Amino acid sequence: MPFDPVYDRVSRVIPPIEWASMQDDVRAINALKRDRRAVILAHNYQTPEIFHGVADIVGDSLALAREAEKSDADIILLAGVYFMAETAKLMNPGKTVLIPDAAAGCSLAESITPADIALLRQRHPGVPVIAYVNTSAAVKAASDICCTSGNAKRIVESLGVPEVIMLPDEFLAQNIARETDIKIIAWAGHCEVHERFTPADLINLRESHPGIVILAHPECPPEVVAVADFSGSTAVMADYVATQKPARVALITECSMSDNISLLNPATQFVRPCNLCPHMKRITLKNIRAALETMQTEVHIDPAHFAPARRAVERMLADR
Ligand code: 13P
Ligand code: SF4
Repeated sequence: MPFDPVYDRVSRVIPPIEWASMQDDVRAINALKRDRRAVILAHNYQTPEIFHGVADIVGDSLALAREAEKSDADIILLAGVYFMAETAKLMNPGKTVLIPDAAAGCSLAESITPADIALLRQRHPGVPVIAYVNTSAAVKAASDICCTSGNAKRIVESLGVPEVIMLPDEFLAQNIARETDIKIIAWAGHCEVHERFTPADLINLRESHPGIVILAHPECPPEVVAVADFSGSTAVMADYVATQKPARVALITECSMSDNISLLNPATQFVRPCNLCPHMKRITLKNIRAALETMQTEVHIDPAHFAPARRAVERMLADR
């Protein structure tokens, strides 16, 4: 096989026989991006051929929201789930924002509606509502400010109040509550990927891999985070590995994360107990190519939700 600089980046996790079925799409996507002045923003949970092969910007939800705010491309293609594409559209009303599969949802985003927020506000008058970015634009519009797992504690503490409502991720709320004196009223939403990890998984890992460093996403149950060495957003975990250079690490999160980060940190051994996010996995090279060829599916936000949802995201991004 002739030298291929893109394959060179992923060859440790994608066998040549699989790459043979990908390289045509990778080339086509990179050419389409140039022709259409498009940029691909990809979440850390995208598969390595997307993350390392066609993405222009990669990161956690916070980084993707910030990069969407800065982009000067004509078209933004979001390789991730629907709420991420909605956030990109909120920050770029005049641009075309594409998602290759509009059915790429999120169990957290689906766990709460604006009507639920109205009830919470009735029950807790005057208490501000912080919406995790993993929510629909309609839910963001009914909230006061957004947060991500990368800034949740700071946002909770930035409001200058003794009590906040933080929704919809119960585990993220409980994990943040352990780190702050602010009282947090939670909602019972869960990430279907992270809720499946148990403390026993981590204890078994430590027994079978002495010295292993365990990093857990804060969407994991608090009893799982309690057994981990460190917890943080996907970008914070990636940064931890790059700077601390552990000899052996386990990332208690979605499976592609270890593939992507291991390629950037060849000296670290990655042990991979992981769970797949079926929504993230709806995005493929084939449907990215089709989206850029057909300009489908374009993300639109209900005009009734646009301004208040954007305000909630802008308030979050103003916190540096
Ligand atoms: P991050 O913001 O940490 O990337 O998390 C997004 C997400 O969906 C995790 O499940
Ligand atoms: Fe949603 Fe969980 Fe998938 Fe992240 S991993 S997109 S929180 S279902």
